[in-house]
Amino acid sequence: MEKSVLLFAFALLLGACAPVAETPPLDLIPHPTSWDPSQNTCDISGAWELDVPTEWHADRRFWSNWLSADSGGKEGKAVSVIIKQSPAMESEAYALAIRPDGITIEAGSTHGAFHALTTLRSLALTGDGALPCGNLADAPRFAHRGLLLDCCRHFMEPEFVKRTIDLLALHKMSVLHWHLTEDQGWRVEIDAYPELTQKGAWRTQADGSRHGGFYTKEQIRDIVAYAAERHIEVIAEIELPGHSRAALAAYPWLGCTGEAMEVPHDWGVFKDIYCAGQDTTLAFLKTVLDEVMELFPSEYIHIGGDEAPKVRWEQCPKCQKRIADEGLHDAHELQSWFIGEIGRYLEAHGRKMIGWDEILEGGLPAGATVQSWRGMDGGRDAVAMGHDAIMSPTSHCYFDYPVESTDLEEVYGFEPEPEGLEGSGRILGGECNMWSERAPQPLVESKVFPRLVAMAEVLWSPPTTRNWSDFQARMESHYTRLDAWEVAYGWETVPMALEWERGATSNSLDVQLVPAMSGVGGTGRFVLQNGQVVSDALDMEEVHTIQGEGKLQVALTRKGVSMGEPLTFPLAGHVGAFQRVELDHSINAYYPGRGEQGLADGRLGSLDFRDGSWQATQGEHMGIAVELEAPIEVDSLSMQVYRYQDAWIFLPDSVRFQWSPDGEHWDGEWWVQPFAAPTFDPNDAQDVQRLAVPVGETARWVRFEARNPGPCPEWHDAASSATWLFLDELVVHGQP
Ligand code: ACM
Ligand code: ZN
Repeated sequence: MEKSVLLFAFALLLGACAPVAETPPLDLIPHPTSWDPSQNTCDISGAWELDVPTEWHADRRFWSNWLSADSGGKEGKAVSVIIKQSPAMESEAYALAIRPDGITIEAGSTHGAFHALTTLRSLALTGDGALPCGNLADAPRFAHRGLLLDCCRHFMEPEFVKRTIDLLALHKMSVLHWHLTEDQGWRVEIDAYPELTQKGAWRTQADGSRHGGFYTKEQIRDIVAYAAERHIEVIAEIELPGHSRAALAAYPWLGCTGEAMEVPHDWGVFKDIYCAGQDTTLAFLKTVLDEVMELFPSEYIHIGGDEAPKVRWEQCPKCQKRIADEGLHDAHELQSWFIGEIGRYLEAHGRKMIGWDEILEGGLPAGATVQSWRGMDGGRDAVAMGHDAIMSPTSHCYFDYPVESTDLEEVYGFEPEPEGLEGSGRILGGECNMWSERAPQPLVESKVFPRLVAMAEVLWSPPTTRNWSDFQARMESHYTRLDAWEVAYGWETVPMALEWERGATSNSLDVQLVPAMSGVGGTGRFVLQNGQVVSDALDMEEVHTIQGEGKLQVALTRKGVSMGEPLTFPLAGHVGAFQRVELDHSINAYYPGRGEQGLADGRLGSLDFRDGSWQATQGEHMGIAVELEAPIEVDSLSMQVYRYQDAWIFLPDSVRFQWSPDGEHWDGEWWVQPFAAPTFDPNDAQDVQRLAVPVGETARWVRFEARNPGPCPEWHDAASSATWLFLDELVVHGQP
């Protein structure tokens, strides 16, 4: 208390002594290193007139088109833009002098000059025909400012990739990390191995349809050249030794078992990976890399290295022989050896290797740069060992995650340089990762934007200029630019909150849609399980009563413009909702599922186990009892359970529903093995199972118990680790 009073007094004092200078802020993202405004403005109502030094004439035409791309046919007095080469400046640095009679750019290289033109283009878009005069100095904080685009889980058209490159350049990003090989699809044409794309680029979906595609060498060269003009380096990722099922589908001899297999259509981590014991597999990869290096002139090649289960290697005589021959201890050291072989091959060809942080396991190969994704520790460890690192932790950089887990403010708060490593020079930068399992091409932009805008500033601007409320103000005008560039951006944060409580009748809920961001509008409708729409349009902020079980679907708008797919809230108005509960288990901090009342609150868990509704425990049994307001005729009881074995979430091995008129005499019995015993499933599904029993008796108390099935089975990657149970919710159908 004392401390905050003191701080408040200090703030008052500061406010009194240091009046804020009347300098107009520069409406630019990413924020420049410095901006020194002067009084006048520069009229830019006319066409741009570029004066480019002779050495850079090759870029002149492209630069001119880039600068005027948003503003064709301007009729005022021509605007002079003189570009000067300043060899002492860093490659990406630039300075802009904006005067009433024209603009001068100084830059160390075409790279810096291009950034200067991008700054002008951005300022012009929101500048209303004039720019503020002043001196701007700018240079990036980090060299590696990347976006990973996973064009494997869902194929993305070459034109879409180019458009993404444009948007990266407009945000002064520097790298497109192009994820080109995966379990679910091989996307890069390789002359020596045509089946990689003839077979490996295509998969049959669960519904029988075909999905796929690949980039021809000509398309790739075109994209790489397109990116180079925009000063974006394309770094290809060729995944090894895991995430390689598509290659194994094309050439089964690449794997340990040699068995034929399909290109899988669902997601997860697969056990079949490249065999590390066969020289032929290594020779294959080196040939692939030869062709990849020929296509991509980048300094780095990304070799993946993540999520490679070792079960096949442990059972493979060839892999075991390699372990013995090379004097290795185990399969982790075999992975390190395998990646080391590839790393040495790349190095011999003048390239450097990037790998996901798993490449630290079993020993980090010489010269490798680590991309840290499971938190920041991988990057930190790499730097401690004298290696470079790129930071893209799931906590801030996974743009496939919904805004519920990573919103704009969280991305803006990302600090790529962990404490102790400031100024080490070993953190090359960061990346946003756009995995596409749940995002086919039409959804990608709504996940990447607006979050990439925040990341662009984090990676470019000096930390001293970082200020969330200032960024928010600049973001408002940046939306004008995103609109002009026709970016199909998504939400900054969860746009709307649902509030709900027990209704006037005991099997109804009163719900209210509450906007959680400015500019949000929309309407909802309640759709019963049988598809029947039972409500009138639900308006924002009004209280509506719903009855029965179904989905509340809310179509949202931002500033009057429709925003993507409706939000869905599974709800059940039932007699058990908001009645007194007793839990047998303790609430887990990670999955509290809305706390004590969460298993009887009318809101049901969805197909997303992170939706906040699911209540979970690890290695424990779970149980809940509900005391109803009064004895009623209970028709049936039901409970949802979640299954996602890859995430250690298993179905219970026994369950019991019970009911009682008095809390002493209980009916109902254990239901042993309500589900088939868990088995290894290469296409591990995430699904919600429903358990239900008819009752047909008068009861005041109802309960549900679920027994944990014990540790993860032998065949599981996490064999012997405790499994999770996920529940939501105990639905009581009956007549009040
Ligand atoms: C990763 O997300 N598996 C790198
Ligand atoms: Zn093998």
